[in-house]
Amino acid sequence: MAAEERATFGRYGFILAAVGSAIGLGNIWKFPYITYENGGGSFVLVYLAAILLIGFPLLMAEIAIGRRMRKSAVGAYAGIGEKASIGGRKWGLLGGFGVMTGALLLSYYAIIAGWTVFYLGKTIAWSTGGFDVPEGGLGSYFGGFLAQGPTQLLFQGVFMVFTTALVALGVTKGIERFTKAVMPVLGVVLLLLAINSVRAPGFGEAMGFLFHIGPITSNALLEAVGHAFFTLSLGMAAMVTYGSYVGRDQSIPKAGLMIALFDTVIALLACVVMFSIIFGVPEIARAESFGRSATILFTALPEMFYDLPLGSLLAPIFYALVGLAALTSTISLLEVVVSYFVDQKSWPRKKAAMIVGGGVFLLGIPSAMSLGASEFWTNFPVVGSRATGAFSVVDYFVSNWFLPIGGLATAILAGWFIKAEVLKDELELGHGTFKWFKAWQFALRVIAPVAIIWILIQVVGGKAF
Ligand code: TRP
Repeated sequence: MAAEERATFGRYGFILAAVGSAIGLGNIWKFPYITYENGGGSFVLVYLAAILLIGFPLLMAEIAIGRRMRKSAVGAYAGIGEKASIGGRKWGLLGGFGVMTGALLLSYYAIIAGWTVFYLGKTIAWSTGGFDVPEGGLGSYFGGFLAQGPTQLLFQGVFMVFTTALVALGVTKGIERFTKAVMPVLGVVLLLLAINSVRAPGFGEAMGFLFHIGPITSNALLEAVGHAFFTLSLGMAAMVTYGSYVGRDQSIPKAGLMIALFDTVIALLACVVMFSIIFGVPEIARAESFGRSATILFTALPEMFYDLPLGSLLAPIFYALVGLAALTSTISLLEVVVSYFVDQKSWPRKKAAMIVGGGVFLLGIPSAMSLGASEFWTNFPVVGSRATGAFSVVDYFVSNWFLPIGGLATAILAGWFIKAEVLKDELELGHGTFKWFKAWQFALRVIAPVAIIWILIQVVGGKAF
Protein backbone atom coordinates (compact mmCIF):
# COMPACT_ATOMS: atom_id res chain seq x y z
CA MET A 1 0.00 0.00 0.00
CA ALA A 2 1.68 3.11 -1.22
CA ALA A 3 -0.14 5.85 0.64
CA GLU A 4 1.78 8.65 -1.03
CA GLU A 5 0.55 7.58 -4.44
CA ARG A 6 -3.09 8.01 -3.54
CA ALA A 7 -4.99 9.91 -6.20
CA THR A 8 -6.29 13.36 -5.30
CA PHE A 9 -9.21 15.11 -6.93
CA GLY A 10 -8.52 18.47 -8.54
CA ARG A 11 -10.03 21.74 -7.34
CA TYR A 12 -13.59 21.26 -8.61
CA GLY A 13 -13.13 17.57 -9.29
CA PHE A 14 -14.29 16.45 -5.90
CA ILE A 15 -17.42 18.56 -5.76
CA LEU A 16 -18.45 17.49 -9.24
CA ALA A 17 -17.73 13.82 -8.57
CA ALA A 18 -19.67 13.92 -5.30
CA VAL A 19 -22.50 15.85 -6.93
CA GLY A 20 -22.45 13.20 -9.64
CA SER A 21 -22.75 10.49 -7.03
CA ALA A 22 -25.58 12.26 -5.27
CA ILE A 23 -27.57 13.19 -8.36
CA GLY A 24 -28.99 10.10 -9.95
CA LEU A 25 -32.14 8.08 -10.34
CA GLY A 26 -33.02 9.20 -6.83
CA ASN A 27 -33.40 12.79 -8.05
CA ILE A 28 -34.92 12.33 -11.45
CA TRP A 29 -36.93 9.15 -11.06
CA LYS A 30 -37.69 8.66 -7.38
CA PHE A 31 -38.03 12.15 -5.92
CA PRO A 32 -40.69 13.38 -8.37
CA TYR A 33 -42.87 10.32 -7.90
CA ILE A 34 -42.68 10.24 -4.12
CA THR A 35 -43.39 13.97 -4.07
CA TYR A 36 -46.34 13.31 -6.35
CA GLU A 37 -47.63 10.53 -4.12
CA ASN A 38 -47.18 12.48 -0.92
CA GLY A 39 -49.04 15.59 -1.94
CA GLY A 40 -46.39 18.06 -3.09
CA GLY A 41 -45.39 21.14 -1.07
CA SER A 42 -45.50 19.81 2.48
CA PHE A 43 -43.49 16.78 1.50
CA VAL A 44 -40.90 18.99 -0.16
CA LEU A 45 -40.60 21.06 3.01
CA VAL A 46 -40.06 18.04 5.23
CA TYR A 47 -37.54 16.72 2.75
CA LEU A 48 -35.64 20.02 2.77
CA ALA A 49 -35.56 19.94 6.58
CA ALA A 50 -34.26 16.35 6.51
CA ILE A 51 -31.50 17.33 4.08
CA LEU A 52 -30.45 20.31 6.18
CA LEU A 53 -30.66 18.73 9.63
CA ILE A 54 -29.66 15.14 8.94
CA GLY A 55 -28.22 14.72 5.45
CA PHE A 56 -25.89 17.69 5.33
CA PRO A 57 -24.27 17.10 8.77
CA LEU A 58 -23.80 13.41 8.02
CA LEU A 59 -22.39 14.19 4.58
CA MET A 60 -19.73 16.36 6.21
CA ALA A 61 -18.95 13.62 8.73
CA GLU A 62 -18.45 11.02 6.01
CA ILE A 63 -16.19 13.26 3.94
CA ALA A 64 -14.19 14.24 7.02
CA ILE A 65 -13.63 10.61 8.04
CA GLY A 66 -12.50 9.73 4.53
CA ARG A 67 -10.13 12.64 4.14
CA ARG A 68 -8.68 12.23 7.61
CA MET A 69 -7.71 8.63 7.00
CA ARG A 70 -7.08 8.77 3.25
CA LYS A 71 -8.34 5.21 2.99
CA SER A 72 -11.47 3.76 1.49
CA ALA A 73 -14.39 2.41 3.53
CA VAL A 74 -12.85 -0.33 5.69
CA GLY A 75 -9.48 1.30 6.26
CA ALA A 76 -11.04 4.68 6.99
CA TYR A 77 -13.51 3.42 9.59
CA ALA A 78 -10.88 1.18 11.20
CA GLY A 79 -8.42 4.06 11.35
CA ILE A 80 -10.85 6.61 12.73
CA GLY A 81 -11.98 3.90 15.18
CA GLU A 82 -8.53 4.13 16.75
CA LYS A 83 -9.38 7.69 17.66
CA ALA A 84 -12.72 6.66 19.15
CA SER A 85 -13.41 6.06 22.80
CA ILE A 86 -15.03 2.72 22.04
CA GLY A 87 -14.53 -0.12 19.58
CA GLY A 88 -11.11 0.70 18.14
CA ARG A 89 -10.34 -0.82 14.76
CA LYS A 90 -13.51 -2.91 14.97
CA TRP A 91 -15.26 0.10 13.42
CA GLY A 92 -13.76 -1.22 10.21
CA LEU A 93 -16.72 -3.60 10.19
CA LEU A 94 -18.97 -0.61 9.56
CA GLY A 95 -16.88 0.09 6.47
CA GLY A 96 -17.28 -3.54 5.44
CA PHE A 97 -21.01 -3.20 5.91
CA GLY A 98 -20.89 -0.20 3.57
CA VAL A 99 -18.96 -2.16 0.94
CA MET A 100 -21.55 -4.94 1.05
CA THR A 101 -24.45 -2.47 0.91
CA GLY A 102 -22.80 -0.74 -2.04
CA ALA A 103 -22.53 -3.98 -3.99
CA LEU A 104 -26.16 -4.85 -3.26
CA LEU A 105 -27.46 -1.38 -4.13
CA LEU A 106 -25.49 -1.32 -7.37
CA SER A 107 -26.78 -4.78 -8.31
CA TYR A 108 -30.33 -3.48 -8.78
CA TYR A 109 -29.63 0.21 -9.40
CA ALA A 110 -27.86 -0.81 -12.61
CA ILE A 111 -31.04 -2.54 -13.78
CA ILE A 112 -33.13 0.64 -13.53
CA ALA A 113 -30.25 2.54 -15.09
CA GLY A 114 -30.38 0.04 -17.95
CA TRP A 115 -34.00 0.99 -18.61
CA THR A 116 -32.91 4.56 -19.35
CA VAL A 117 -30.55 3.24 -22.02
CA PHE A 118 -33.36 1.18 -23.52
CA TYR A 119 -35.70 4.18 -23.55
CA LEU A 120 -32.98 6.37 -25.02
CA GLY A 121 -32.77 3.97 -27.94
CA LYS A 122 -36.53 3.73 -28.12
CA THR A 123 -37.15 7.50 -28.12
CA ILE A 124 -34.49 7.99 -30.78
CA ALA A 125 -36.36 5.45 -32.88
CA TRP A 126 -39.70 7.15 -32.16
CA SER A 127 -38.35 10.63 -32.85
CA THR A 128 -36.83 9.66 -36.16
CA GLY A 129 -39.37 7.10 -37.33
CA GLY A 130 -42.55 8.60 -35.89
CA PHE A 131 -44.16 7.86 -32.56
CA ASP A 132 -47.15 5.66 -32.22
CA VAL A 133 -48.40 4.23 -28.96
CA PRO A 134 -47.54 0.53 -28.82
CA GLU A 135 -50.48 -1.84 -28.80
CA GLY A 136 -52.05 -2.00 -25.35
CA GLY A 137 -50.48 1.31 -24.30
CA LEU A 138 -47.10 2.25 -22.90
CA GLY A 139 -47.89 0.74 -19.52
CA SER A 140 -48.28 -2.75 -20.82
CA TYR A 141 -45.39 -2.18 -23.20
CA PHE A 142 -43.18 -1.38 -20.23
CA GLY A 143 -44.49 -4.43 -18.36
CA GLY A 144 -43.64 -6.60 -21.34
CA PHE A 145 -40.16 -5.12 -21.47
CA LEU A 146 -39.61 -5.87 -17.78
CA ALA A 147 -40.68 -9.47 -18.24
CA GLN A 148 -38.08 -10.12 -20.93
CA GLY A 149 -35.26 -11.68 -18.97
CA PRO A 150 -32.56 -11.57 -21.67
CA THR A 151 -33.35 -7.93 -22.51
CA GLN A 152 -33.11 -6.96 -18.84
CA LEU A 153 -29.78 -8.73 -18.51
CA LEU A 154 -28.51 -7.14 -21.69
CA PHE A 155 -29.17 -3.57 -20.56
CA GLN A 156 -28.07 -4.22 -16.99
CA GLY A 157 -24.90 -5.73 -18.46
CA VAL A 158 -24.32 -2.78 -20.78
CA PHE A 159 -24.61 -0.41 -17.85
CA MET A 160 -22.21 -2.44 -15.76
CA VAL A 161 -19.70 -2.42 -18.60
CA PHE A 162 -19.76 1.41 -18.79
CA THR A 163 -19.48 1.64 -15.02
CA THR A 164 -16.63 -0.84 -14.82
CA ALA A 165 -14.70 0.85 -17.63
CA LEU A 166 -14.83 4.25 -15.94
CA VAL A 167 -13.80 2.90 -12.55
CA ALA A 168 -11.01 0.87 -14.15
CA LEU A 169 -9.64 4.11 -15.65
CA GLY A 170 -9.12 5.40 -12.14
CA VAL A 171 -10.14 8.19 -9.81
CA THR A 172 -8.75 11.13 -11.78
CA LYS A 173 -8.67 9.79 -15.33
CA GLY A 174 -12.00 7.98 -15.12
CA ILE A 175 -14.30 9.24 -12.40
CA GLU A 176 -13.14 12.84 -12.17
CA ARG A 177 -12.75 13.48 -15.88
CA PHE A 178 -16.12 11.94 -16.69
CA THR A 179 -18.14 13.67 -13.97
CA LYS A 180 -16.49 16.99 -14.80
CA ALA A 181 -17.62 16.68 -18.40
CA VAL A 182 -21.10 15.39 -17.66
CA MET A 183 -22.39 17.28 -14.63
CA PRO A 184 -22.34 20.82 -16.04
CA VAL A 185 -24.11 19.63 -19.20
CA LEU A 186 -26.66 17.81 -17.10
CA GLY A 187 -27.35 20.90 -15.00
CA VAL A 188 -27.66 23.19 -18.02
CA VAL A 189 -29.90 20.84 -20.00
CA LEU A 190 -32.19 20.20 -17.06
CA LEU A 191 -32.41 23.95 -16.47
CA LEU A 192 -33.32 24.48 -20.13
CA LEU A 193 -35.94 21.74 -19.90
CA ALA A 194 -37.36 23.42 -16.79
CA ILE A 195 -37.45 26.80 -18.53
CA ASN A 196 -39.14 25.16 -21.49
CA SER A 197 -41.76 23.75 -19.10
CA VAL A 198 -43.07 27.24 -18.50
CA ARG A 199 -44.76 26.92 -21.88
CA ALA A 200 -46.27 23.54 -21.07
CA PRO A 201 -50.02 23.62 -20.36
CA GLY A 202 -49.55 21.93 -16.99
CA PHE A 203 -46.94 24.37 -15.67
CA GLY A 204 -49.27 26.50 -13.54
CA GLU A 205 -50.87 23.54 -11.85
CA ALA A 206 -47.49 21.88 -11.39
CA MET A 207 -46.12 24.87 -9.53
CA GLY A 208 -49.26 25.11 -7.44
CA PHE A 209 -48.79 21.48 -6.46
CA LEU A 210 -45.12 21.88 -5.70
CA PHE A 211 -45.82 24.77 -3.33
CA HIS A 212 -49.10 23.50 -1.94
CA ILE A 213 -48.94 23.13 1.82
CA GLY A 214 -51.34 20.52 3.08
CA PRO A 215 -51.51 17.91 5.83
CA ILE A 216 -48.69 15.41 6.00
CA THR A 217 -48.79 11.74 6.96
CA SER A 218 -46.25 9.96 9.14
CA ASN A 219 -45.49 7.76 6.19
CA ALA A 220 -44.52 10.82 4.19
CA LEU A 221 -42.15 11.87 6.97
CA LEU A 222 -40.61 8.43 6.90
CA GLU A 223 -40.17 8.56 3.18
CA ALA A 224 -38.68 12.07 3.26
CA VAL A 225 -36.02 11.17 5.82
CA GLY A 226 -35.19 7.90 4.07
CA HIS A 227 -34.84 9.69 0.77
CA ALA A 228 -32.55 12.32 2.27
CA PHE A 229 -30.06 9.50 2.86
CA PHE A 230 -30.49 7.90 -0.47
CA THR A 231 -30.20 11.05 -2.52
CA LEU A 232 -27.01 12.24 -0.81
CA SER A 233 -25.43 8.78 -1.20
CA LEU A 234 -25.10 8.43 2.57
CA GLY A 235 -25.00 5.49 4.93
CA MET A 236 -22.72 3.21 2.94
CA ALA A 237 -19.34 4.93 2.96
CA ALA A 238 -19.55 6.30 -0.58
CA MET A 239 -18.75 9.81 0.63
CA VAL A 240 -16.05 8.41 2.93
CA THR A 241 -14.46 6.81 -0.12
CA TYR A 242 -14.66 9.95 -2.27
CA GLY A 243 -13.57 11.96 0.76
CA SER A 244 -10.37 9.92 0.87
CA TYR A 245 -9.35 11.51 -2.45
CA VAL A 246 -9.95 15.11 -1.31
CA GLY A 247 -7.02 17.46 -0.91
CA ARG A 248 -6.26 19.03 2.47
CA ASP A 249 -6.66 22.49 0.97
CA GLN A 250 -10.38 22.06 0.38
CA SER A 251 -13.12 23.15 2.75
CA ILE A 252 -15.37 20.26 3.72
CA PRO A 253 -18.23 22.43 5.04
CA LYS A 254 -18.28 24.42 1.80
CA ALA A 255 -18.03 21.33 -0.39
CA GLY A 256 -20.79 19.63 1.61
CA LEU A 257 -23.02 22.65 1.24
CA MET A 258 -22.48 22.79 -2.52
CA ILE A 259 -23.20 19.08 -2.87
CA ALA A 260 -26.42 19.25 -0.84
CA LEU A 261 -27.48 22.40 -2.66
CA PHE A 262 -26.89 21.13 -6.19
CA ASP A 263 -28.53 17.83 -5.38
CA THR A 264 -31.62 19.58 -4.07
CA VAL A 265 -31.87 22.05 -6.92
CA ILE A 266 -31.68 19.26 -9.49
CA ALA A 267 -34.35 17.25 -7.67
CA LEU A 268 -36.65 20.27 -7.68
CA LEU A 269 -35.95 21.01 -11.34
CA ALA A 270 -36.78 17.39 -12.16
CA CYS A 271 -40.12 17.89 -10.40
CA VAL A 272 -40.85 21.04 -12.38
CA VAL A 273 -40.11 19.27 -15.66
CA MET A 274 -42.07 16.12 -14.86
CA PHE A 275 -45.03 17.76 -13.18
CA SER A 276 -45.46 20.25 -16.00
CA ILE A 277 -45.84 17.31 -18.33
CA ILE A 278 -48.01 15.28 -15.98
CA PHE A 279 -50.37 18.08 -14.99
CA GLY A 280 -50.90 18.95 -18.63
CA VAL A 281 -52.98 15.79 -18.87
CA PRO A 282 -56.59 15.99 -17.70
CA GLU A 283 -57.01 14.49 -14.26
CA ILE A 284 -59.07 11.51 -15.35
CA ALA A 285 -56.60 10.49 -18.02
CA ARG A 286 -53.79 11.08 -15.55
CA ALA A 287 -54.91 8.36 -13.16
CA GLU A 288 -55.35 6.08 -16.13
CA SER A 289 -51.93 6.68 -17.64
CA PHE A 290 -50.09 6.08 -14.42
CA GLY A 291 -51.99 4.07 -11.93
CA ARG A 292 -48.57 3.33 -10.51
CA SER A 293 -46.68 6.54 -10.19
CA ALA A 294 -43.37 4.71 -9.67
CA THR A 295 -43.26 3.95 -13.37
CA ILE A 296 -44.34 7.36 -14.73
CA LEU A 297 -40.86 7.96 -16.08
CA PHE A 298 -41.18 5.00 -18.42
CA THR A 299 -44.90 4.72 -19.00
CA ALA A 300 -46.64 8.08 -19.08
CA LEU A 301 -43.73 10.32 -19.87
CA PRO A 302 -42.69 9.13 -23.35
CA GLU A 303 -46.19 9.61 -24.72
CA MET A 304 -46.54 13.00 -23.09
CA PHE A 305 -43.24 14.15 -24.51
CA TYR A 306 -44.55 13.61 -28.02
CA ASP A 307 -47.47 15.96 -27.32
CA LEU A 308 -45.09 18.72 -26.34
CA PRO A 309 -43.58 21.33 -28.66
CA LEU A 310 -40.07 20.09 -29.58
CA GLY A 311 -40.95 16.79 -27.92
CA SER A 312 -39.12 14.67 -30.49
CA LEU A 313 -35.96 16.52 -29.66
CA LEU A 314 -36.51 16.64 -25.90
CA ALA A 315 -37.43 13.00 -25.34
CA PRO A 316 -34.10 11.40 -26.30
CA ILE A 317 -32.18 14.23 -24.63
CA PHE A 318 -34.11 13.60 -21.44
CA TYR A 319 -33.41 9.87 -21.34
CA ALA A 320 -29.76 10.39 -22.20
CA LEU A 321 -29.59 12.78 -19.29
CA VAL A 322 -31.18 10.40 -16.83
CA GLY A 323 -28.81 7.67 -18.02
CA LEU A 324 -25.75 9.87 -17.54
CA ALA A 325 -26.94 10.96 -14.11
CA ALA A 326 -27.30 7.29 -13.20
CA LEU A 327 -23.83 6.52 -14.55
CA THR A 328 -22.12 9.13 -12.37
CA SER A 329 -23.85 7.42 -9.43
CA THR A 330 -23.06 3.83 -10.38
CA ILE A 331 -19.37 4.65 -10.72
CA SER A 332 -19.29 5.88 -7.14
CA LEU A 333 -21.11 2.76 -5.94
CA LEU A 334 -18.62 0.55 -7.73
CA GLU A 335 -15.71 2.65 -6.49
CA VAL A 336 -16.67 1.91 -2.87
CA VAL A 337 -16.27 -1.82 -3.50
CA VAL A 338 -13.31 -1.62 -5.87
CA SER A 339 -11.30 0.70 -3.63
CA TYR A 340 -11.72 -1.82 -0.82
CA PHE A 341 -9.86 -4.43 -2.86
CA VAL A 342 -7.31 -1.87 -4.05
CA ASP A 343 -6.56 -0.43 -0.59
CA GLN A 344 -6.99 -3.47 1.63
CA LYS A 345 -6.04 -6.35 -0.66
CA SER A 346 -3.56 -4.48 -2.88
CA TRP A 347 -5.27 -5.64 -6.07
CA PRO A 348 -4.43 -3.69 -9.21
CA ARG A 349 -7.32 -1.34 -9.98
CA LYS A 350 -8.16 -2.76 -13.40
CA LYS A 351 -8.36 -6.28 -12.11
CA ALA A 352 -10.42 -5.21 -9.10
CA ALA A 353 -12.83 -3.24 -11.31
CA MET A 354 -13.38 -6.14 -13.69
CA ILE A 355 -13.83 -8.79 -11.03
CA VAL A 356 -16.11 -6.66 -8.85
CA GLY A 357 -18.05 -5.31 -11.83
CA GLY A 358 -18.61 -8.85 -13.08
CA GLY A 359 -19.52 -10.05 -9.59
CA VAL A 360 -22.07 -7.29 -9.11
CA PHE A 361 -23.60 -8.14 -12.48
CA LEU A 362 -24.05 -11.76 -11.35
CA LEU A 363 -25.45 -10.58 -8.03
CA GLY A 364 -28.08 -8.59 -9.90
CA ILE A 365 -29.32 -11.46 -12.06
CA PRO A 366 -32.04 -12.61 -9.62
CA SER A 367 -33.34 -9.03 -9.43
CA ALA A 368 -33.30 -8.65 -13.21
CA MET A 369 -35.24 -11.88 -13.57
CA SER A 370 -37.72 -10.93 -10.86
CA LEU A 371 -39.68 -8.40 -12.91
CA GLY A 372 -41.78 -11.06 -14.57
CA ALA A 373 -39.21 -13.16 -16.40
CA SER A 374 -38.74 -15.89 -13.82
CA GLU A 375 -41.63 -17.09 -11.72
CA PHE A 376 -39.40 -18.14 -8.86
CA TRP A 377 -37.56 -14.83 -8.50
CA THR A 378 -40.67 -12.76 -9.26
CA ASN A 379 -42.61 -14.33 -6.38
CA PHE A 380 -39.74 -14.42 -3.94
CA PRO A 381 -41.23 -13.16 -0.67
CA VAL A 382 -40.03 -10.05 1.13
CA VAL A 383 -39.68 -10.53 4.84
CA GLY A 384 -41.84 -8.03 6.67
CA SER A 385 -43.24 -6.34 3.61
CA ARG A 386 -46.11 -6.85 1.23
CA ALA A 387 -44.04 -6.58 -1.91
CA THR A 388 -42.57 -9.66 -3.53
CA GLY A 389 -39.70 -10.40 -5.87
CA ALA A 390 -35.93 -10.50 -5.56
CA PHE A 391 -35.66 -6.89 -6.73
CA SER A 392 -38.00 -5.68 -3.99
CA VAL A 393 -36.33 -7.87 -1.37
CA VAL A 394 -32.93 -6.34 -2.02
CA ASP A 395 -34.32 -2.82 -2.27
CA TYR A 396 -36.31 -3.32 0.91
CA PHE A 397 -33.24 -4.33 2.90
CA VAL A 398 -30.93 -1.72 1.42
CA SER A 399 -33.27 1.30 1.57
CA ASN A 400 -35.17 0.52 4.75
CA TRP A 401 -32.47 -1.13 6.82
CA PHE A 402 -28.91 -0.95 5.61
CA LEU A 403 -28.63 2.72 4.64
CA PRO A 404 -30.36 4.00 7.82
CA ILE A 405 -28.29 1.64 10.02
CA GLY A 406 -25.06 2.70 8.30
CA GLY A 407 -26.03 6.34 8.72
CA LEU A 408 -27.01 5.87 12.36
CA ALA A 409 -23.76 4.14 13.22
CA THR A 410 -21.73 6.86 11.49
CA ALA A 411 -23.66 9.63 13.23
CA ILE A 412 -23.09 8.02 16.64
CA LEU A 413 -19.44 7.31 15.93
CA ALA A 414 -18.77 10.86 14.75
CA GLY A 415 -21.06 12.58 17.24
CA TRP A 416 -20.28 10.68 20.42
CA PHE A 417 -17.18 8.51 20.17
CA ILE A 418 -14.55 10.27 18.10
CA LYS A 419 -12.76 13.00 20.01
CA ALA A 420 -14.36 16.30 19.05
CA GLU A 421 -10.97 17.93 18.37
CA VAL A 422 -10.16 15.38 15.68
CA LEU A 423 -13.23 16.16 13.61
CA LYS A 424 -13.15 19.87 14.38
CA ASP A 425 -9.58 19.97 13.16
CA GLU A 426 -10.54 18.13 9.98
CA LEU A 427 -13.51 20.40 9.27
CA GLU A 428 -11.35 23.48 9.78
CA LEU A 429 -8.54 22.26 7.56
CA GLY A 430 -8.79 24.22 4.33
CA HIS A 431 -11.70 26.16 5.79
CA GLY A 432 -10.67 28.22 8.80
CA THR A 433 -12.68 28.50 11.99
CA PHE A 434 -15.86 26.45 11.70
CA LYS A 435 -18.39 28.50 13.60
CA TRP A 436 -21.15 25.94 13.32
CA PHE A 437 -19.26 23.10 14.97
CA LYS A 438 -21.57 22.87 18.01
CA ALA A 439 -24.67 22.87 15.85
CA TRP A 440 -23.12 20.25 13.60
CA GLN A 441 -22.27 18.09 16.58
CA PHE A 442 -25.78 18.44 17.96
CA ALA A 443 -27.23 17.33 14.64
CA LEU A 444 -25.05 14.21 14.69
CA ARG A 445 -25.50 13.50 18.38
CA VAL A 446 -29.21 14.02 18.70
CA ILE A 447 -31.23 14.95 15.62
CA ALA A 448 -29.90 12.31 13.24
CA PRO A 449 -29.98 9.37 15.70
CA VAL A 450 -33.48 10.20 16.92
CA ALA A 451 -34.81 10.54 13.37
CA ILE A 452 -33.12 7.34 12.20
CA ILE A 453 -34.17 5.27 15.19
CA TRP A 454 -37.70 6.48 14.56
CA ILE A 455 -37.40 5.26 10.95
CA LEU A 456 -36.18 1.86 12.09
CA ILE A 457 -39.02 1.53 14.59
CA GLN A 458 -41.50 2.29 11.82
CA VAL A 459 -39.85 -0.28 9.58
CA VAL A 460 -40.01 -2.88 12.34
CA GLY A 461 -43.69 -1.99 12.68
CA GLY A 462 -44.17 -3.07 9.08
CA LYS A 463 -43.99 0.26 7.30
CA ALA A 464 -41.73 0.38 4.30
CA PHE A 465 -40.81 3.22 2.00
N1 TRP B 1 -27.61 9.18 -4.58
C1 TRP B 1 -27.98 8.32 -5.64
C2 TRP B 1 -29.25 8.82 -6.30
O1 TRP B 1 -29.89 9.71 -5.81
C3 TRP B 1 -28.19 6.89 -5.20
C4 TRP B 1 -27.24 6.39 -4.20
C5 TRP B 1 -27.51 5.98 -2.96
C6 TRP B 1 -25.88 6.26 -4.31
N2 TRP B 1 -26.39 5.65 -2.29
C7 TRP B 1 -25.38 5.79 -3.11
C8 TRP B 1 -25.04 6.53 -5.34
C9 TRP B 1 -24.05 5.60 -2.90
C10 TRP B 1 -23.69 6.34 -5.13
C11 TRP B 1 -23.21 5.87 -3.94
O2 TRP B 1 -29.63 8.30 -7.29
